[in-house]
Amino acid sequence: MFILAWGGFVCMSLRLGRPSDLHDLEEIERSSFEKGRFPRSLLATMLDSGDFLTLVDEEDVVVGYVSVYLEGPAKARLVSIAVLPEWRGKGAARLLMEGAEEASREREISLMGLEVGIRNVVALRLYLSQGFGIKGLIKDYYGKGKDAFYMEKALTSGKGAGARPRDGKHDRLAALPDDDR
Ligand SMILES: CC(C)(COP(=O)(O)OP(=O)(O)OC[C@H]1O[C@@H](n2cnc3c(N)ncnc32)[C@H](O)[C@@H]1OP(=O)(O)O)[C@@H](O)C(=O)NCCC(=O)NCCS
Repeated sequence: MFILAWGGFVCMSLRLGRPSDLHDLEEIERSSFEKGRFPRSLLATMLDSGDFLTLVDEEDVVVGYVSVYLEGPAKARLVSIAVLPEWRGKGAARLLMEGAEEASREREISLMGLEVGIRNVVALRLYLSQGFGIKGLIKDYYGKGKDAFYMEKALTSGKGAGARPRDGKHDRLAALPDDDR
């Protein structure tokens, strides 16, 4: 696939995250979040679990990721999405969201949910533009005074069966202290 960058098109690919992406993912976390970054150990565990879909450049450097895990037999949760600052505003997040949705549909997921900080206008606009709707407000979700919207999207071609949740991983993001996502 191609993406418009610096006035020209560059070749990009979506692929599953690999253990060797750990350093690149840490760099994206560092440059994207002031607080509540995923620690290295958690990133490694999530990579092992196949939770990351990454967007890589021609040299296989990860420029953005989306992490999704199964929350129930037919439901997925989008845990996080981030793009390197120099790659933002070029459609990278849209590609990642579309890839995550397609992969979820293939696993017969019919509903995707996520939380987003109410002050994260860019992410909110991204999710709204991808067809997610606001279903509720979660007070203090990211810490005291840091509320989140809960959003959902129906993935229309999902059949609602077949995928199994991974036990014990449902509240990873919520468990992080003082998260500002
Ligand atoms: C949110 C984020 C992933 C968007 O990545 P991106 O690659 O720049 O997004 P895209 O270029 O694909 O834009 C997709 C949509 O996002 C929204 N968007 C992107 N940049 C925006 C901006 N500066 N202002 C307002 N809306 C914006 C728009 O709706 C846009 O669609 P449009 O181009 O049709 O208007 C990126 O800004 C980021 O990494 N932020 C820090 C991490 C974060 O907050 N993650 C979300 C919470 S987990």
